[in-house]
Amino acid sequence: MVPRPVSFERGEGEVVFAGDVEVRPYDGPPEGYRLTVSTDGVVIEAADEAGEFYARQTVRQLSGPAAFRAVPPSSVTLPVCVVEDHPRFAWRGCMIDVARHFLPKHDLLRYVDLLAAHKLNVLHLHLTDDQGWRFECKRYPRLHEVGGWRPSSRHGDRRHGGMTGRPHGGYYTQDDLRELVAYAARRHITVIPEIDVPGHSQAAVAAYPELGVEAGGIWTDWGVNPNALKADESTVDFYRHVFDELLDVFPGEVIGLGGDEAEGGDGRFVRRIAQHLVRRGRRPFGWDEVLDAGPLPVGTIVASWRGEDAGLRALERGHDVVMCPEEHVYLDYRQSDHPDEPIPVGTVTTLADVHAYEPKAADRVLGAQANLWTEHLDSARRLDYAAFPRLCAFAEVVWSPSPRDLDEFTRRLTGHHLPRLDALGVEYRPLTGPHPWQTLPLVPGHPR
Ligand code: ACM
Repeated sequence: MVPRPVSFERGEGEVVFAGDVEVRPYDGPPEGYRLTVSTDGVVIEAADEAGEFYARQTVRQLSGPAAFRAVPPSSVTLPVCVVEDHPRFAWRGCMIDVARHFLPKHDLLRYVDLLAAHKLNVLHLHLTDDQGWRFECKRYPRLHEVGGWRPSSRHGDRRHGGMTGRPHGGYYTQDDLRELVAYAARRHITVIPEIDVPGHSQAAVAAYPELGVEAGGIWTDWGVNPNALKADESTVDFYRHVFDELLDVFPGEVIGLGGDEAEGGDGRFVRRIAQHLVRRGRRPFGWDEVLDAGPLPVGTIVASWRGEDAGLRALERGHDVVMCPEEHVYLDYRQSDHPDEPIPVGTVTTLADVHAYEPKAADRVLGAQANLWTEHLDSARRLDYAAFPRLCAFAEVVWSPSPRDLDEFTRRLTGHHLPRLDALGVEYRPLTGPHPWQTLPLVPGHPR
């Protein structure tokens, strides 16, 4: 099974299950459950609604791959067993960058289903960057009307100089995003939106040039862009309005403000937006560079991506932390050093590397998230290849207790879980390397 439960006791025999479940309270940890399959039927004892949801996911896992099809069988055979389970971390996340390449709404909804099947509970949506603005803004419509469209992008790695010449883009309406939030909530997933300030903002500057230190079009390139937002009062005010609209769409407590790689940026910008979010009753969430922005409001959550040291610094300052060190959980990085890896970038991050990741366990470490940056992932098919099966290993890291055993995981993965991904139609990377149609031999990468 993925993830591995805290305990699994197999009894004698099997029972036919046609969907009837008795649900009772459970005196266990949050999101926890006890699932009992016996000849008397299936009983779920659940600590809360999420616990019941995860117990039902486990029933699905026990039911065989056909249970993951769009039309599952009306009855299945379950092993007699008792499963007792709860997650290791409260924040079990995945970030999807929908800014570099827009992910159509139906694909995003599908990803919600895929996260839920892996008992992940946070979808961090990176909605804006130099290359695209994906949030419909009623007050400043040029943000999505102009900022949503990228005229071209690099053909593979930027150091090779080629361009695709292919325009692309799109944005989500506020109604689309409300739908996403509601769809995710039914699956016990919180969607955390991020509008990145004051760097990574050239799509906004393309729409409203007065916002930028310098004018500039939507970035066809990528990397760290020296052109950041001005830190003057009118620009901060503009963004207060934008965040206000965001808060109307996303009811969750945590709201992302980015803060990463803002070379020409001013820490005051981050602080002011963070203060605004706190005044509106929310918790700011920023990449670890926000620690350099000066004192942040109490309650700010820090995403530690440049290793875990930044997260440890954040803990010392009393912040809650989400670990996402790039050397372990940047799933856009290449999965092997084989020359057939499509657009190989970053350091080698194998399935085993992800599985071996041990987030620092400390009181204020809320959990961890895997990050999917999409400069080189321009479609749901490319996203599937990068995400799976490494995201399955990540799901174990954040759900299951350590120590973990890679061989045992790999046996469960190949014997049970990859057939489920097949039934779901996930175009994962085979453990032996890409299918021929998953390679991109003429698109240059830049391995580190
Ligand atoms: C990041 O990778 N710039 C957070």
